[in-house]
Amino acid sequence: MRILVIGDIVGRPGRRAVVDLLPGMRQKHRPELVIANGENAAHGRGITPRNVQELVGAGVDVVTSGNHVWDQKEIIPYMEASVPLLRPINYPSGAPGQGYLMQSGVLVVNLMGRTHMYNVECPFRTMDRLLAELPSPPKTIIVDFHCEATSEKVAMGWYLDGRVSAVVGTHTHVPTADARVLPKGTAYISDIGMTGPTCSIIGNEISAVINRFLTQMPGPLPVAEGPAVLSAVLVEVDDITGRALKIKRVDEYEGDL
Ligand SMILES: [Fe+2]
Ligand SMILES: [Fe+2]
Repeated sequence: MRILVIGDIVGRPGRRAVVDLLPGMRQKHRPELVIANGENAAHGRGITPRNVQELVGAGVDVVTSGNHVWDQKEIIPYMEASVPLLRPINYPSGAPGQGYLMQSGVLVVNLMGRTHMYNVECPFRTMDRLLAELPSPPKTIIVDFHCEATSEKVAMGWYLDGRVSAVVGTHTHVPTADARVLPKGTAYISDIGMTGPTCSIIGNEISAVINRFLTQMPGPLPVAEGPAVLSAVLVEVDDITGRALKIKRVDEYEGDL
């Protein structure tokens, strides 16, 4: 089974890249499942019901998210509906929405780290509980680990090695070159990278971000314009054993870099 996972979609350029490039990628790679992190789909902050519909219409099967998921308030009631949208599973109880779902026989889990992030429940113990409590866990399990620190991400990869099919990192918007299959069969990458404008600072206008660093003053950080990259990995899983066979980067670009 082939599963395509797309990194954080940032604003209009990111959504446009998915709409324009995903149909061709589906033809080229023939994934049975497409997962995309949409936490920055709405102007770089959060995601709206319309954004979810647009991504699903473009061929995304499951939308994951992260710390920005609550930024657009209209998403909160929508989360209670039966839509393929996840928020990190380890938000404390009382948070709306769902942290995992089954799609095409695959369990997709959205998990969030704690280092330099929010005070959510322990992601390691949360995964232990989930894997122990599922009545009949499917063979293929994909974890979007939304996390700042590469050390916490690498630790999660090793912690879950042999227990899930893939741990793929999101949140930093910067792709890493460490995609590999760990010894017990878990595909791993620290960060897929973003789907958004290439001439930007993690999706935002360059001058606005540099000005913030120079002055330490708050101010708007608009999403940058221009051609986008679609950052993604393709994971190949043996659906009899649930072990990953391969993971590779399959980024696509709009226009020239
Ligand atoms: Fe993000
Ligand atoms: Fe994030």
